[in-house]
Amino acid sequence: PPLSSLVDFPVGAAVPADPWPNSLLQSPQRQALMERHFNSLTAENAMKMAYLQPRPGEFDFTHADALVNYARGHNMIVHGHALVWHTQTAKWMDEQTGPANEFTRILDRHIRTVAGHFVGRLKSWDVVNEAFTDETPSDYRDTIWYRNIGAGYIERAFKLAHQADPKAELYYNDYDISGMIGPAKLDRVLAMFDDFLARGVPIHGLGFQMHIDTQEPTLSDIEEAFSKAVARGIKVRISELDIAVNQSEQYQQLTPEVAQLQRQRYQDVARVYLQTVPPAQRGGITLWGLTDADSWIPGFRKRADWPLLFDADFQAKPALTGLAEGL
Ligand code: XIL
Repeated sequence: PPLSSLVDFPVGAAVPADPWPNSLLQSPQRQALMERHFNSLTAENAMKMAYLQPRPGEFDFTHADALVNYARGHNMIVHGHALVWHTQTAKWMDEQTGPANEFTRILDRHIRTVAGHFVGRLKSWDVVNEAFTDETPSDYRDTIWYRNIGAGYIERAFKLAHQADPKAELYYNDYDISGMIGPAKLDRVLAMFDDFLARGVPIHGLGFQMHIDTQEPTLSDIEEAFSKAVARGIKVRISELDIAVNQSEQYQQLTPEVAQLQRQRYQDVARVYLQTVPPAQRGGITLWGLTDADSWIPGFRKRADWPLLFDADFQAKPALTGLAEGL
């Protein structure tokens, strides 16, 4: 059965827009998978700063709009990713040398224009992505935003996003906060939530990226991390799920044994999500890509890997069965 028919929260995938290779809009096979299994769509890249505002004050929504229109035409909700990040910023942003208020002006205009452009068409936004470091104790990541504006840029971004799109659910999103590197990073993120919630800064949920592998983080790490977020009363999303299997680099192809291990792992992760996050706080689960041929992991980790639910020939892997079993 279609994945999204198994649960009553959104199940989605991140997909490339035009003009990326593998663009969903140029691929009938990818559209078939999307339409069969998913009711939520995220742009893998097309809504990042560099592509929406390639030159100062010049916004280009052509490709992002095409993706949003496709999703809405197929009864899918759209999750926006991401208003503020330190990667895939426009070159002209990185090259700015101005006083702090120049960066504030850039931040404000970007968020107002982008969130305003999509108003009413997106269910939710990743407002700020990856603002904390991996160190212990974790601290704010040194980015153009933090360096030039200070930690206040995060709160500012959430307020601006809320002003521009008052009905959108606003998420903070980060990686390695469900284990892997210990709880310090998550605890810093949650301290920020506690502060924002106490002061009425509009923030509604936490996105756990979960680019994980078959061993780490442990299920009890994941459970503990979800529980801490749940205790804050916020929404919890698994925002970028993929499960790498070749961290030891010993495989040239996905073996049946490893495919079964991955199936079990997908099932376990889904089960922990359902067991730990109560229905009203479930923001949903999004896979970071459709097929293994599209996954960012081999490029990023510089090795072969097969982290997703479908193989390069668009065939369902045991991983799909596993996720369905866990939902
Ligand atoms: C990745 C995309 O998948 C790649 O195509 C791109 O080259 C780099 O970004 N965390 C995030 C995502 O929040 O935006 C990243 O996506 C993966 C890690």
